[in-house]
Amino acid sequence: MSRFVLITPNTDFDQRLRQAVAGGLPGSVQTFFTSVLPADPAELFGALNQEQLEVLILGPDVPVEDALRLATVLDVQLPELSVILVSELDPGFVLQAMRSGIRDIMSPAADVAQIRVMLERACQSFASRQRTMEPKQPGSPKGLVIGVFSPKGGVGKTTIATNIAVGLGKIAPMGVVIVDLDLQFGDVASGLYLNPEHTVTDAVTPSASQDSLVLKAFLTVHPASIYALCAPKDPVEADEISPEQVGRLLEQLAQEFQYVVVDTAPGLPEIGLAALEQCSDAVWVTGMDVPSVRGLRSGLDILRKLNLLPETRHVVLNMADSKSGLSVQDVESTVGAPVDVSIPRSKAVAFSTNRGIPVLQEAVKDPAVKGLKQLVERFNPTWRATAQRKMHRRVVV
Ligand SMILES: Nc1ncnc2c1ncn2[C@@H]1O[C@H](COP(=O)(O)OP(=O)(O)O)[C@@H](O)[C@H]1O
Ligand SMILES: [Mg+2]
Repeated sequence: MSRFVLITPNTDFDQRLRQAVAGGLPGSVQTFFTSVLPADPAELFGALNQEQLEVLILGPDVPVEDALRLATVLDVQLPELSVILVSELDPGFVLQAMRSGIRDIMSPAADVAQIRVMLERACQSFASRQRTMEPKQPGSPKGLVIGVFSPKGGVGKTTIATNIAVGLGKIAPMGVVIVDLDLQFGDVASGLYLNPEHTVTDAVTPSASQDSLVLKAFLTVHPASIYALCAPKDPVEADEISPEQVGRLLEQLAQEFQYVVVDTAPGLPEIGLAALEQCSDAVWVTGMDVPSVRGLRSGLDILRKLNLLPETRHVVLNMADSKSGLSVQDVESTVGAPVDVSIPRSKAVAFSTNRGIPVLQEAVKDPAVKGLKQLVERFNPTWRATAQRKMHRRVVV
């Protein structure tokens, strides 16, 4: 359970914060209506009810110096706690606030949705700090790393990756990150209508690769309760990112998130192979045309020879179309593996790419939605627990 404590004399902000929590965050809010902050955290703890405190929100309308002083003490006594300062802070002060142990700064004018995103992030970072402070069990659970691959471009990898991420966001809110490893021409940002401040370039810097909290500061929050790490804005930067850095990045993210969804560039470039090595699951996408089906066949053959195929495979036939001149059986016999999920060609999908809103984000009624939901379900722990036999059951088209 999340537990929020707010200290402020501002009743209007208290109302907004309560609405933000009521809109879907577990746990309750306890407010102290005062502008006087306790000098000693013990005073605060004495006044709390039993639930564990995860996020402490200071302000609006409390003295900033007092807030920083309290944050400094808490940073030592209760380092996993997330302290948020609500203040119109002079930019020159931000660094000082962060050094004092303030984890985030919120504008007093923030609306309910903005408050909710920030509280979610604060809970998430509480959980991850708590996890890092617990002694790591050997073989502690790692998230699934789901890579979406195809030898050919334009078959729907990005469409499928963004929909998997958005779909999984419903199973594990804030427990999903999508990473765009089509480093040169990636379009996850456009597919999710994001304008990211930071990209993979920042996420592979030494400071981020040594500290997962720094890494997480470079992720972009998406309204479907998922995180995104988008491709560099300038394709030139892609050349400076090495396969080793990509491997390390995915390893780190898998420690922090239940699901890491990876979109890739067409073919089997070095970066893609480095990603494949970290994948627990590979989603292989083919269209319903001869070049794309043959391409998948030879791609899988090469990887099999190199012993690079991840344990769990999902073959997706995208843009399935009964008028293409090929049948599902033709596709299966050429690929040499059963088709696990079939997604029909759909206008709603093409339209969703242009709007930057994946079809699984909205309640769109469309045959493609059914296929995409089936695919997402394959990563649901309850489905997997019973799936050994039906993992590759033939799809009916
Ligand atoms: N099932 C589908 N029906 C119709 N259009 C689709 C479908 N899947 C993908 N598309 C469209 O095909 C184009 C290429 O898809 P994209 O996901 O970018 O492919 P890739 O990442 O493999 O290059 C996009 O415009 C997308 O909207
Ligand atoms: Mg793509």
